[in-house]
Amino acid sequence: MIPRRALIVGRQHYAHALSTRASTILSAVGIPAESELPGVYHGEWVGSGDVLESVCPTTGEVLARVRSASPQELQTALGKSREAYTWFRMLPAPKRGEILRQIREALAAKRDELGALVSLEMGKIKTEGTGEVQEFIDIADYAVGLSRMMNGRVVASERPGHSILEVPNPLGVIAVLSAFNFPVAVYGWNLALSFAAGNATLWKPSPSTPLCSIAVTKIISGVLENNGVPGAVAGLVTGGKDVGEAVIESKDVDMVSFTGSEAVGRQVGKVVQSRFGKVLLELGGNNAAIIMPDADLDLAVPAVFFGAVGTAGQRCTTTRRLYLHRHIAPAFIERLQKLYSSIRPGDPLEQGTLLGPLHTRAAVGIYSGAVDRLRKEGAQILSGGSSYQGLAKPLDGGNFVMPTIAVPKSVNIKDAVWSQETFAPVLCVGVFDELEQAIAWNNGVPQGLSSSLWTRDLRNVGKWIGPAGSDAGIVNVNVGTSGAEIGAAFGGNKSTGWGRESGGDAWKEYVRWGACTINFSDEAPLAQGVQFSSTA
Ligand code: UN1
Repeated sequence: MIPRRALIVGRQHYAHALSTRASTILSAVGIPAESELPGVYHGEWVGSGDVLESVCPTTGEVLARVRSASPQELQTALGKSREAYTWFRMLPAPKRGEILRQIREALAAKRDELGALVSLEMGKIKTEGTGEVQEFIDIADYAVGLSRMMNGRVVASERPGHSILEVPNPLGVIAVLSAFNFPVAVYGWNLALSFAAGNATLWKPSPSTPLCSIAVTKIISGVLENNGVPGAVAGLVTGGKDVGEAVIESKDVDMVSFTGSEAVGRQVGKVVQSRFGKVLLELGGNNAAIIMPDADLDLAVPAVFFGAVGTAGQRCTTTRRLYLHRHIAPAFIERLQKLYSSIRPGDPLEQGTLLGPLHTRAAVGIYSGAVDRLRKEGAQILSGGSSYQGLAKPLDGGNFVMPTIAVPKSVNIKDAVWSQETFAPVLCVGVFDELEQAIAWNNGVPQGLSSSLWTRDLRNVGKWIGPAGSDAGIVNVNVGTSGAEIGAAFGGNKSTGWGRESGGDAWKEYVRWGACTINFSDEAPLAQGVQFSSTA
């Protein structure tokens, strides 16, 4: 056992080692500069499992160490979530909405501070970090309204004196397994709907963004406490693969909402399905933008630039494929390259920076592998093509790569360069002559998250959004592939997993539906005119 004095010295040493850049942000969101933070919340904060390190992708600095959930703590958290659900489901939905409104206010009061934390820990630029917190605030607004509008239906019955009701009730415990790239908003989409619907939500964030989840959970738990609501209504279990596996296998979890890769999503889907749990998947995107000859290039070029380079190419909705009509291809490329050549890597916390780092070292390797493969297959690299070397301190410790434009030799859509998602800023360009060809390319990959057509011709729009059009879940016109608002359901088709979160009808996934046929009459007729009377 380590003597107490030594521990304290250790702590002071650790706090001292933190840069001012990081410590200012962490203290503004109430994360103490301790040697190890508890990473589990189920009404109280605990954590004695493996240590997770939160590493700043911009500098390589270790921001904090977090004690994740031990197997025992995980079971306790699951049990407490279940208990919290049985309490919470009895609270009328508009009352739940009122508490959600307070959560919304508490988040809004810390929007800038949380936005800076997202930027620090994930690496996206500050305006996008703040935008992500705004996305949580927006969906909270939406779900507050929803808390008075989660309506069932009364259906006409074919039998006299009968009514059929479709009744939504709280579902149970919803586990949210979120990814590093949206460490706040994607949890927000799930929490807001799940909360309004009367469920307990248990969050298993990405192991590389534990601080965002701790900061958000602290804000939410403060509101729950003020309202006398059990903390496990919004619980947190940080951890790695073991924790994730135990969560998805648990029969205490009624629905798993998973955001991540297609490979992991396939496993999650199988495991949850095999125990007949509900599963909502939000997996890979391999999103295309199609530019018609009549497109307004003043709008389209910057939109593709943001879609491909924003968040350093680490959105599920990032533009990864660009299909240009032959007539405008040279002009478009020239203008896009100009924007690419203006980009400089920088500290994402600094105003004016447009390009932050990739989130991890491993991602730099994946980026380099993808660019190497493109080169090997004879693609022309028009911009970028390598990671940044020799950056000035402290950026020399970061994971910075050059946004890349590549023109593969042909658009053979089954080739890996076209059909696989690389989670980095690599944009592949192809040239087409007819819209139909571009739509076939758009649809020819396994994924189906987002897509974007640029045109001023209504006839093209009709084709694009109709039965022979884009098969993605997001089908935009004169709007880029990324940056969706919360109002519509968000999600993708095919290997993206068919899940829908956020707005639209997505809330209907977070409840259990009962079809209730009620007989008010003095007869008990069978449906479809079936006779079953015994003469005996
Ligand atoms: C994601 O990348 O997982 O549409 C979510 C967007 C954001 C959400 C992306 N509103 O780009």
